[in-house]
Formats: sequence, C-alpha cells, structure tokens
Amino acid sequence: LFGGDSNGKSSSKNEEIRRGSSGEPLYTTLAGHPVSDDNNSLTVGESGTLLFEDLHLLEKLAHFNRERVPERVVHAKGAGAHGYFEVTKDVSDLCKAKFLSEVGKKTEVFGRWSTVTGESGFADTARDPRGFSIKFYTEEGNWDMVGNNTPVFFIRDPIKFPDLIHSQKRNPQTHMKDPNAFWDFLSLVPESLHQVLITFSPRGVPDGHRHMHGYGSHTYKWVNSEGKAHWVKFHFLSDQGIKNLTHEQSVEIAGINPDYSTEDLFQNIQNGNYPSWTFKVQVMPLEDAPKYRFDPFDLTKVWSHKDYPLREVGKLVFNRNPTNYFAEVEQVAFSPAHMVSGIEASPDRVLQSRLFAYDDAARYRAGGNYLQIPINQCPFAKVQTYARDGFMTVNNNGGSKPNYYPNSFEDLPRPDPQTPDVHPYKLEGGVVGRYPPRKWVEQDDYEQPRALWQGMSAEDQEMTVKNIAGHIQGAKEFIIKRQIAVFRKCDESLASKVEEALDMKKKSPEPYTMVA
Ligand code: HEM
Repeated sequence: LFGGDSNGKSSSKNEEIRRGSSGEPLYTTLAGHPVSDDNNSLTVGESGTLLFEDLHLLEKLAHFNRERVPERVVHAKGAGAHGYFEVTKDVSDLCKAKFLSEVGKKTEVFGRWSTVTGESGFADTARDPRGFSIKFYTEEGNWDMVGNNTPVFFIRDPIKFPDLIHSQKRNPQTHMKDPNAFWDFLSLVPESLHQVLITFSPRGVPDGHRHMHGYGSHTYKWVNSEGKAHWVKFHFLSDQGIKNLTHEQSVEIAGINPDYSTEDLFQNIQNGNYPSWTFKVQVMPLEDAPKYRFDPFDLTKVWSHKDYPLREVGKLVFNRNPTNYFAEVEQVAFSPAHMVSGIEASPDRVLQSRLFAYDDAARYRAGGNYLQIPINQCPFAKVQTYARDGFMTVNNNGGSKPNYYPNSFEDLPRPDPQTPDVHPYKLEGGVVGRYPPRKWVEQDDYEQPRALWQGMSAEDQEMTVKNIAGHIQGAKEFIIKRQIAVFRKCDESLASKVEEALDMKKKSPEPYTMVA
C-alpha cells in the first residue's frame, strides 16, 4: 500500500516513464506537451519582448500563483508519517470494530503531529499543546483519532473555541502574539486552568513529536458485537518515553532550527528507528457515568486511573516517511466524525461540535471533494455513494449509473440495516435552553489542577512557575492579578510563587518571547 508515486499510493497507470528523443525522461507541460526549453522565455529576437505564445511560461507562472491552499486555521504546522497499527490484546469484549477483531491484526495508518496556534512555518518548539492525529485505514472505512498530547482541553463548551484561538493567535492590530489577550481570556475562563498548568509545566514543550503521549481526550463510546456499550478514553503512550525541552532550550532551538520536531521525526524514520506508541484504553461501564463524582464527559478533567485502569489494545508503529509533503501531510483531512462501527461519540458537547467542525474545515481548505484526495481515501473500503459532481471531481463520478436513491435497478448501493451507526441510547427530555454543561454535577475547576500541582516534584513546580512568570509578565497588571487569583483558588503556594517570580523579574526584566 502507498508504495508508489507522490500521492502516497501506487499507480500502475503512471509507472512507465515517458522519454524524449535523447532517451532521457521527458519534461512536459501540464497538458502533456513536450517542453523544448525551460531556461529561455520566447522573445522577439535576442533582446525583444515576450510573446503570448510562450504557453509554457504562462502556464508555469499561472500555476505557481495558485500553489497555496488555506492552511489549517489551527494546527497548521505539522509533520506526518505512514505506519501500521497492530492489535496486541483481545478487546473484542469491548468493541466490535473489525480492525480490533483479533490479536495480531494489522491496519495501515497515517499520523500527523502538530503545534496548535502557530502558522505553517512556526517554530516546532513553541510552548503549545501538540496535535496527535491518526487515520486508521480499516476495512469498514477510516477511523480518525484526532487527539492532543494532553488528556484535557482549555474549555468545556465549544462556543468558546473561536475566542480561545483568537486570544492565543495574533493581535488584530500588531499581528504579534499578545500576552494580554492570552491571559485575559484564560483568566476569565478558569475551566482552562488544568490545561494551562500542563502547558506551562515541563511537559509543555516536548522534545520532538516522538517523545510525547497522545490522548483522545474526550470520552468516546465503544460497542461490542452483542450491543453492549462502555465509555472509553484513549491513551497512546510513547514507547520512546517522555522527554521535554526547557524554556531556554526551546527558545534557542526555535532560532536555530524551527523545524526541529519535523526533522527529528523524518530522520528517525529514515534511519530505521521507527517511533511507536502503545494504545491503551480506560473503560467505564455506562451505568457508572451518572454516579461518578464529576461529569465524566467534562473535557477539562481526567478519569482517575485507580477507578479506571489502563487496558492495553495494541501498538502503533510509524515506518515510512511521506514522499510528498503537500499531497500527504497538507492534504490529509482528519475528522472526529470519521468513525467505524463500534466507535461512537459521547455527550461531551465539545466532541459533538467537533463532529461538525473538521469536515467543514476540510471542505473550505481542500474543496468539497476532499475525500477523493488519495491520502483521504480508504483503499480497503470502496466508497459507493449517490453523491455526485462538485469542484475537482477527479474520479469517474459514478459513470452512467443512477445518481439517486431509492431506485429500481439491481446491483446498486443499498443501506445495510445490519450495520447500524448508533448504539440505541435514551436521552432524557428537558427544557431547551443555554445551560452550563452538566449543571447537575457540581463543577470544580480547581480540584484536578490542584492535584497536578501538588503532585509535581519541587523542580517541576519551579520550572512551571518560571515558565508562567516568563510569559504572563508581558500582560497588563489587572490581568496578571486576575490570573493570580485563579492560581490562588487552586493552591496558595502556586499563586505566591508566581508572584515572587514576577517580583524578581521586575528587578531584572527579560524580554517576552513568543515561544515562552
Ligand atoms: C485541527 C476545530 C478542539 C485536536 C482543527 C481544525 C479545526 C478544529 C477547524 C482544522 C482542521 C483542518 O483544517 O483539517 C476544533 C474545535 C474544537 C477543537 C471547533 C473545540 C470546540 C480540539 C480538541 C482536540 C483537537 C479538544 C484534541 C483532543 C485537533 C488536531 C487538529 C485539529 C490534532 C489537527 C488535525 C491534523 O493534523 O490535520 N481543529 N478543534 N481539537 N484539532 Fe481541533
């Protein structure tokens, strides 16, 4: 699979090289006409003007002008690789997905790892969460696991997402990263504290993509072949181990090699040192959810490993670099909505919104037929649909077959009632309104960040405080005060240590660095 040309897949049609009269491979125009000279434009005499007849020149300039597509609105800077997933433990009691059906079963995958708030040329060593996306090309279609390197997120309601991202990206006037916007938003949204502490802890800058864990973060539902369902959380533990960069290292590397993690991934795969992750799940019986001591669908919280220990599922191995960055890494479109039978969503409202956001973003970024792009197609589950037409329809578009359903003709696609896409579940009726998520469970934005802070070694606490102070020092005084009040609600020592570090900085100020 994917052994051949630049879109990552083999293509027998284009394998034979077309040669010119000298026997060398022939350079052609996009329409396939031979190019006779690619150094000299067509002119009237040696010093004369250009001619419209230089079709190769016109095509070359015109195509160049159209090389860019919109970059991802978040997670624009990323690196990708091909590999496989292998089941190492029987989980058929939990999930009926065919790619998980037996120990030893292998599935082709494509992974992409990214920073969140920088543009596509941004420094890989930014202090920022990291994306962790895996596309599983299964016989039932693609399953996209679109996660992060942190088990929690800044917000628990998606309505805040565009504001969160605006505040972390560039100022609308200066076009610079803006510590005021950054901390203004976060200090007004204390549910962000858990993610903020992780981001400013030593884990906030992983030493390359290979040295971090991945998490599905949300709660998902797994359904087995008997129709029994469980809530699950996905964990991908780095077999390379966790390694992080200090603030000083991250700033220095950002200047020397902004593509540090991209290069590390590429070179390790090229040298045969294949990175791998062990896939584990936490499993919660459905009936536990309403009784759990907090809302188990709250994305700002983790489930206790004591209550729900990790259970091994399999191994992800990445053993092949992309042959073309744009065709594979840029055009790949991950979506939490790409699920296979046995894997379903939970009531986490952030996840529910993501079921819409990604395919919508891909339609804008890569066009309405983005699923026809080879890297997004599943070679093991043929697409048979009545959808037709649209920009960049590059397959045979259903040929002469009917483009509507129901129809009266034989051997045309029919729905299969034996493969339902949802495990039937009951939703409590209620009054429509704009409620804080899970109002019926007391929200506590501080308990888990407190446990995280108190569980850190003295050294990790010191680095976390230093990282926070180095960044928040660029914000206005009233914003700093409000964020310190948030820290104080979490733990007095966290707040007072940040205050002390800021006092020290006032005595010997350092410049605010955007990768701080
Ligand atoms: C990328 C939206 C939360 C992980 C994206 C993209 C959008 C988006 C529009 C760009 C997609 C593209 O152009 O292909 C949202 C919204 C969220 C949210 C609306 C919440 C309301 C999250 C969370 C996670 C996450 C909680 C992790 C658990 C990612 C990753 C990518 C991404 C890994 C990059 C995928 C790739 O490598 O192409 N997000 N996101 N996002 N998001 Fe989110």
